[in-house]
Amino acid sequence: MKTILVTGGAGYIGSHACKALSRAGYTPVTYDNLVTGWQDAVKFGPFEQGDLLDRARLDEVFTKHQPAAVMHFAALSQVGEAMREPGRYWSNNVTGSLTLIEAAVAAGCLDFVFSSTCATYGEHDNVVLDENTSQHPLNAYGASKRAIEDILRDFQASHDLRHVIYRYFNVAGADPDGEVGEFHRPETHLVPLMLDAIDGKRDGLTIFGTDYDTPDGTCIRDYVHVCDLVDAHVLGLDWLEQGKESRVFNLGTGSGFSVLEVIEQSKSVTNRPVPYTVGSRRAGDCTKLVSGSVRAETELGWKPKRSTLETMIADAWRWHQNGHYEK
Ligand code: UFG
Repeated sequence: MKTILVTGGAGYIGSHACKALSRAGYTPVTYDNLVTGWQDAVKFGPFEQGDLLDRARLDEVFTKHQPAAVMHFAALSQVGEAMREPGRYWSNNVTGSLTLIEAAVAAGCLDFVFSSTCATYGEHDNVVLDENTSQHPLNAYGASKRAIEDILRDFQASHDLRHVIYRYFNVAGADPDGEVGEFHRPETHLVPLMLDAIDGKRDGLTIFGTDYDTPDGTCIRDYVHVCDLVDAHVLGLDWLEQGKESRVFNLGTGSGFSVLEVIEQSKSVTNRPVPYTVGSRRAGDCTKLVSGSVRAETELGWKPKRSTLETMIADAWRWHQNGHYEK
């Protein structure tokens, strides 16, 4: 069985990826510092606690497990926090990823799957966002991810580090079996915040601005189910194993939903009202981020199965009612 080093395997997306990898016959080894991840979420393979900035620890883990590839999820990923504390984003995300990449290269582990983001595109008026769209991130989070994409290209040129870069749109939902799910502390993402508001775990949701240039004035995002997203990562490993060229793929469905539309759908899935108030814009938010690419479908053979808004919210709601982690 091939071993895959999964950084951030104790986090939301990484834990779902570990489940998908183990189902596909790989051994996922989680490498996570547990700053935002949860040891309880590591259920599908060995756990190695460590920080991306700790080169000695990384070297030890590469030597011990001899992974065939790296899947790199570990990152700070909150737009609001990135606006307030950009230094942490450049240090943890960029220097941390550089340290990981250097350790991988030194260990001869030259297949690399990287979680990037549509936040690297920034604001574009009436432009279809595909992989060739110019990248002008509005926040340090997006900027840090774009920088890591550049580092990967440089290491491809110098050391033949073959990579697949995924630019995620908005990831939502949870494992339908309820083994893992989305659980951040503090929570900043729309769907879990909304579910907290619905069942009274918080006073209400604040909509960050209703004065955007969209039909209902709220921001539009392209939501993709976490299980579909991680399926694409398994296909990315096949892609690299087949010796194909390094490639960038958007992972979104091409359908955009406004914050108010997500609220409406949640009302109908949960059969409960969503208490909310309208607040001001959140710094760093783009008006609209919707994928305009079918490259992942046509080239990787990726077929999203659970990415309707209804299914994503239903899966998230099931997890929300039953699941949580303890450190
Ligand atoms: N929103 C609110 N109120 C809240 C939280 C969010 O109105 O309390 C709005 C945001 O303004 C945005 C939408 O809901 O319009 C989605 O916000 P999220 O915070 O859930 O997600 P973001 O779009 O900011 O960012 C997320 C991830 C990033 C990723 C990005 C890609 O946090 O890692 O999606 O769009 F890069």
